[in-house]
Amino acid sequence: MRLPAPLFSLALLTATTSATNFTGDVLNGVPVISHLDISEVPSRRVSRYYLRVGEINGGLPLHIPVFVARGTPESLKSGKKLSLSAAIHGDELNGVRVVQRIFEQLEGQVGQLNGTVIGIPTVNPMGIYLNQRNYFTSHNSGWLTNVNRVFPGVAASEGGSGPELLAYNIWNDVWGNRSQVDVGIDLHTPSSGGETSLWCYADFRLPYVERLAKLLQPDTLKIDPGEPGSIETTFVDNSIPSITVEMGLAKVWNASLIERVYDFVNRVLDDLSIVPSNSTESYVPDLSKTYIANTFHDSISKYGGFVEQLVTVDEPVTKGQPIANIRNVFGDILETVYSPESGRMFQSPRDPSIEPGASVGQIAYNSTDPECADGCIL
Ligand SMILES: *[C@@H]1O[C@H](CO)[C@@H](O)[C@H](O)[C@H]1NC(C)=O
Ligand SMILES: *[C@@H]1O[C@H](CO)[C@@H](O)[C@H](O)[C@H]1NC(C)=O
Ligand SMILES: *[C@@H]1O[C@H](CO)[C@@H](O)[C@H](O)[C@H]1NC(C)=O
Ligand SMILES: *[C@@H]1O[C@H](CO)[C@@H](O)[C@H](O)[C@H]1NC(C)=O
Ligand SMILES: *[C@@H]1O[C@H](CO)[C@@H](O)[C@H](O)[C@H]1NC(C)=O
Ligand SMILES: *[C@@H]1O[C@H](CO)[C@@H](O)[C@H](O)[C@H]1NC(C)=O
Repeated sequence: MRLPAPLFSLALLTATTSATNFTGDVLNGVPVISHLDISEVPSRRVSRYYLRVGEINGGLPLHIPVFVARGTPESLKSGKKLSLSAAIHGDELNGVRVVQRIFEQLEGQVGQLNGTVIGIPTVNPMGIYLNQRNYFTSHNSGWLTNVNRVFPGVAASEGGSGPELLAYNIWNDVWGNRSQVDVGIDLHTPSSGGETSLWCYADFRLPYVERLAKLLQPDTLKIDPGEPGSIETTFVDNSIPSITVEMGLAKVWNASLIERVYDFVNRVLDDLSIVPSNSTESYVPDLSKTYIANTFHDSISKYGGFVEQLVTVDEPVTKGQPIANIRNVFGDILETVYSPESGRMFQSPRDPSIEPGASVGQIAYNSTDPECADGCIL
């Protein structure tokens, strides 16, 4: 029987001093680790692991899948290290397929790869199991935590809860407390019920973030100061260029959007010289269809009822233009909502049923308020 490569390396590693901690378990044929040290991962190979991220009540262990594509031995130090992560929100699934496809491709390139690519196709398996955004914590009758607000997490020894431990383990035991990542791409979609095309959050204050965002060639590029506790902002706070990519709809795999983001990751691999470049010229992004804006402005419903869209995603709007009607159950109009500014509708509800306080559509535009120069969300 041919041993899978990581198991073979386990045998080698136990003979030496190992910084990658194998727990000894094998799950679905994949070795389980509690800490990843990329220098211990076989070079010129794509390896798969499950990272143990604590247990849930009753002692059931939790694991998240991790890919590592390590290139040539010398490129461990000289090459760049890219992280791809997806599905920190359990209903946001387009990015899962992007990570899978990139690692399928890297199988054929890894022999010559100049650097390392780490992939986490599903950051929040708990959310995927529940088919919704958050992580479910069960004590005190239970509550839901947005894992993209608790990075870099809290250690179990410091009292970390399940979602905080998940974040802590990813930050420290996959990304090595920043030491195993040079550039990070975190893949999302809008939450369930919302609709958009392709856009990203980008904090232009850190060098290379603007370049990364432009390589995406998104429909909308949001200049943004970031969100504390998110993967993107935790990377940026640690001087690691990163963007949050938003793709289409929750709970679907949209082949054309997956293709666009897959092509984007390839442009990044090329830009970072991780794959051999086809050209000596650096790529010039095509931004002819990209709307760049520093402000997102949400409009909300005052009523519970049904929302009727009057403007579709990516359509231009002018200030005062009706963007949606809120109808009651008999079809009467309770409220017409008007655009707060001139700009572009970049995200709107797909689900017609609506409750008070929920979004009826978000407009992107450039605010002239100096406070919004680095980005605003209103
Ligand atoms: C690896 O496991 C050993 C023994 O359990 C432990 O002492 C060490 O702290 C672990 N290292 C990491 C990096 O998790
Ligand atoms: C590998 O990547 C490093 C860092 O970007 C770069 O300096 C070097 O030229 C690259 N090597 C090759 C052979 O592309
Ligand atoms: C992560 O690195 C920072 C310094 O860069 C250090 O202060 C912190 O203690 C480290 N965290 C862990 C869990 O080792
Ligand atoms: C995929 O997303 C694009 C952009 O939002 C959209 O135009 C297209 O209709 C979607 N495709 C499918 C099959 O839903
Ligand atoms: C470089 O060229 C090869 C062969 O034509 C192609 O498969 C690959 O996608 C190209 N890479 C980039 C980054 O354009
Ligand atoms: C918004 O401002 C940016 C520069 O900060 C500019 O590149 C972009 O074209 C502007 N967008 C619009 C819609 O005017």
